Amino acid sequence: MIISAHPSDKSFSNYLAKALRQQYELLGWKVIWRNLYEKDFSVVLSPADLEALKSGTVPADIEAEQKLMQEADLISVVYPLWWASFPAVLKGYIDRVLTNGFAFKYGRGGATGLLTDKRVILHTTMGNTVEEYDDKGLIEAFRTIQGQEVFGFCGMQIIGHHFYPQITLADEKQREHYLQKALNSYPEIFARI
Ligand SMILES: Cc1cc2nc3c(=O)[nH]c(=O)nc-3n(C[C@H](O)[C@H](O)[C@H](O)COP(=O)(O)O)c2cc1C
Repeated sequence: MIISAHPSDKSFSNYLAKALRQQYELLGWKVIWRNLYEKDFSVVLSPADLEALKSGTVPADIEAEQKLMQEADLISVVYPLWWASFPAVLKGYIDRVLTNGFAFKYGRGGATGLLTDKRVILHTTMGNTVEEYDDKGLIEAFRTIQGQEVFGFCGMQIIGHHFYPQITLADEKQREHYLQKALNSYPEIFARI
């Protein structure tokens, strides 16, 4: 499964998502690519959604999306860093899909992740340099907040979180370099092609 959250077709994010889909297809895998700008899934957790979920009913569109995710063994999440966080569409998708009872459950000892059969790789593009954020301790914070506290919280194993700095300034050569870097982050997977 590929989840991408960039509005522009020309973005590195979508370029990378397309390349990942190609690689997966070469392996003969079934690929589900959820481009969150295609707008066929609401990314706003509504009052009605919240009431339904609290009373134990999962809205039909959320349930359908959860079924898609349930099928996935490997999830690639590709997104630009916006205001040091996920783009709103990705945050909203997470709010609606990774629900209590599907993605995690609460017990006396705290929360338990339920999606333990899934591996995740995050790809974060950004305008700043890694150094600027590293100096403020924020790269580790992004790994924790966007990776561990979301996908890790749901029991998924995070096998990589990669950052693509100053991507807006990158020329063709640099984009190609980053694309290879991204694909190389799946060595044991793509080595089988
Ligand atoms: C609304 C908005 C907020 C942004 N916030 C940040 C930010 O907090 N940090 C950063 O490094 N870049 C920020 N950027 C720059 C984007 O991360 C950058 O344009 C994006 O990674 C380009 O992605 P692409 O190569 O996939 O096109 C922001 C861009 C937009 C449009």
